[in-house]
Amino acid sequence: MEGKKHLQSINIFMIIAIFLFLHFARFSDAVGKASGGSKQGKWELLLNNTGVVAMHVALTHQNTVIMFDQIGEGQSGYRLRHRFNGTRCRATRNDFEDWSCYAHSLEYDILGNKVRPLRLDTDPWCSSGTFLSNGTLLQAGGYGRGSRKIRYFKTCDNGNCDWKQSKNFLSSDRWYASSQLLPENDRAIVVGGRRVFSYEFVPKLHSNDKSFDLPFLHQTYDRNAGGNNLYPFLHLSSNGDLFIFANRDSILFNYRRNMVVKKFPRIPGDGSRNYPSSGSSVILPLDHRNRFQKVEVMVCGGAAAGADRAAEQRRFLTGLSSCGRMVITGNTHKWKMENMPGPRLLNDMLILSTGHILIINGARRGCGGWNNAAGPSLQPYLYNPKKTLGRRFSVLRSTKIARMYHSSALVLPDGRILVAGGNPYRRYTFRNVTYPTELRLQAFSPQYMDRQFNNWRPHNVSILSNDDNMYGVKYGKEFTVQFRLRRKPTSNMVEFSAYAPPFTTHSISMNQRMLRLRCTKLSTANGWTSAVLEAPPSPNVAPSGYYLLTVVNNGIPSISQWVRNIRKWSSLRNFTFRKRAKLRIPVLRRFWKKRSRFFSRVKVSWRKALKRLKNGQAHMNDLFGGNYMFMQANPTPRCGQRPFMGHNIHGLQARYSLGKIA
Ligand SMILES: *[C@@H]1O[C@H](CO)[C@@H](O)[C@H](O)[C@H]1NC(C)=O
Ligand SMILES: *[C@@H]1O[C@H](CO)[C@@H](O)[C@H](O)[C@H]1NC(C)=O
Ligand SMILES: *[C@@H]1O[C@H](CO)[C@@H](O)[C@H](O)[C@H]1NC(C)=O
Ligand SMILES: *[C@@H]1O[C@H](CO)[C@@H](O)[C@H](O)[C@H]1NC(C)=O
Ligand SMILES: *[C@@H]1O[C@H](CO)[C@@H](O)[C@H](O)[C@H]1NC(C)=O
Ligand SMILES: *[C@@H]1O[C@H](CO)[C@@H](O)[C@H](O)[C@H]1NC(C)=O
Repeated sequence: MEGKKHLQSINIFMIIAIFLFLHFARFSDAVGKASGGSKQGKWELLLNNTGVVAMHVALTHQNTVIMFDQIGEGQSGYRLRHRFNGTRCRATRNDFEDWSCYAHSLEYDILGNKVRPLRLDTDPWCSSGTFLSNGTLLQAGGYGRGSRKIRYFKTCDNGNCDWKQSKNFLSSDRWYASSQLLPENDRAIVVGGRRVFSYEFVPKLHSNDKSFDLPFLHQTYDRNAGGNNLYPFLHLSSNGDLFIFANRDSILFNYRRNMVVKKFPRIPGDGSRNYPSSGSSVILPLDHRNRFQKVEVMVCGGAAAGADRAAEQRRFLTGLSSCGRMVITGNTHKWKMENMPGPRLLNDMLILSTGHILIINGARRGCGGWNNAAGPSLQPYLYNPKKTLGRRFSVLRSTKIARMYHSSALVLPDGRILVAGGNPYRRYTFRNVTYPTELRLQAFSPQYMDRQFNNWRPHNVSILSNDDNMYGVKYGKEFTVQFRLRRKPTSNMVEFSAYAPPFTTHSISMNQRMLRLRCTKLSTANGWTSAVLEAPPSPNVAPSGYYLLTVVNNGIPSISQWVRNIRKWSSLRNFTFRKRAKLRIPVLRRFWKKRSRFFSRVKVSWRKALKRLKNGQAHMNDLFGGNYMFMQANPTPRCGQRPFMGHNIHGLQARYSLGKIA
């Protein structure tokens, strides 16, 4: 009797507790809405005046950010004393109007929090960009005399590097084109452009390489609405084919054979997603657990049908609230739709090291183009792809600065988001307008940067490598990451992500890509944790280049370190084809034959490795110097065990880390 009563009172207590919890949850939700949003995240003003609108931005592996605007409209906010050709800029009316007396491109030094002007000779307005495997930024196209130009920015650590215009030209004008780095030949594909319905490759293998017609761009062209298929969304699938999304449609494209492999269903709902409708898109993080073979893309926001025409009459139609997700690998393809907390266009989508998607910048109404939007979207949204439908979005702390047309955002190595730009006018306009040209530079710190999580934050992260190329890791090979933790890890608590930093403009982040890497061993000694990670298996999964490696402990990320995926073109190309052939059933028998051969090779490798280890000549290259199958023969993750490498790895080098975050 006594026991029963006790149980009853516990029940009542629990019911009250649940009621109170729900009540307050709803209450705080209401408060959140009433006071204009959530308290998650923090905004800081970095610079009051960068001088140049950050229409295009890209993070280099020297921890600087390249920014540029158009050059055609004369004055920027950064006046030069001398033109780049050396002649003085005088206080004459002509020189005040002369574009060459102003900077139109900058390099922003993240640690120093300062900018320096860069030289531009022709107009890169509304162009595209891609980092090549050696970290050089390749920028293609633009406007007017710049529309067929190719420029390189070779990064340096002494502040002496600048844009270099290539002697080679694009085959077609590329104004509002997109580009994607390809797995082979260290080059990019450049797709589309205003009134250009083709693609081409840069750099060119042969000087007479031409553009190839792409009928899909004709089919998706909305003649009466400014195109709605400009700046198409490009994502490289993990079999090396290219996903292309334009307007509302999408295809899987084999650029090696100039062939459409698949036509995907049209994304449901009205409106359009690409410029000038200007929604955004990401490829969701690729995961080692499915061997990076499941590829899912996401498209969010955009403009209502007719928004372009309406904006001409100063009517700004409410933008799209919907997002669609679709798996582009496998055989069944269906857009799964869900709604953001509000309508949004001109929005940037960034992949955070936690695997969450940040939706930032933009407007609620109108479309892209001069003075075509209204109602700035001041609150970032955070999207957790792993949660159940309806619980994936949260609203973060709002900014006070409108970032609409010609604004941009980037993930920084320290985990902050750099937010810059915004200019809905042809010229720099500061007075008597609703949304003045925006030259302030901000950083948004997501909640994971909060001090309260410092106990979880991995620190002193360094990548150990004794490769010829500094900090390089080879496809499919293991490498070691060392870091310190204040809280003890368990194997499933610590995760590792590799992030390809994008070139961002007009709401599209070209080449942005994240991989969740496999950890095969995790061990702790003397306060250091060592994790043995497996590099991505092939350049289809992760094109060669610099990636930001982040250690994420219980959802709290470290400062990221640069790591380079090393190419070896001929052997990699061999490898890619061989691997794909193996997956097909008719060659299964050959596969097994090969496999047994590999096992014997593994044994030999092991014996060799152990012998070397005994002789004290253990080089990482020797231990992991077999081929990819050597790794495959050891499939079970063994995180939590001691690494057999110990600490005497020859030639260890640690990358410098960014300083403490303010
Ligand atoms: C920006 O300008 C305001 C007003 O002049 C000043 O208070 C603030 O310190 C400046 N901030 C930065 C980062 O320069
Ligand atoms: C330098 O550039 C200005 C403006 O483009 C041009 O008028 C001038 O002739 C140039 N001078 C030289 C020495 O190239
Ligand atoms: C990277 O490669 C490009 C294209 O081959 C070349 O122009 C550039 O000089 C290289 N950069 C470095 C840092 O070697
Ligand atoms: C401000 O703009 C309005 C309309 O756009 C115009 O009528 C007015 O003259 C402008 N004022 C100034 C000071 O430029
Ligand atoms: C870890 O990094 C901090 C700076 O971030 C430095 O002061 C400290 O000495 C480092 N600790 C070790 C053990 O390297
Ligand atoms: C594959 O590798 C071999 C030897 O390394 C080389 O001779 C051959 O040209 C390569 N094939 C391709 C398609 O790259």
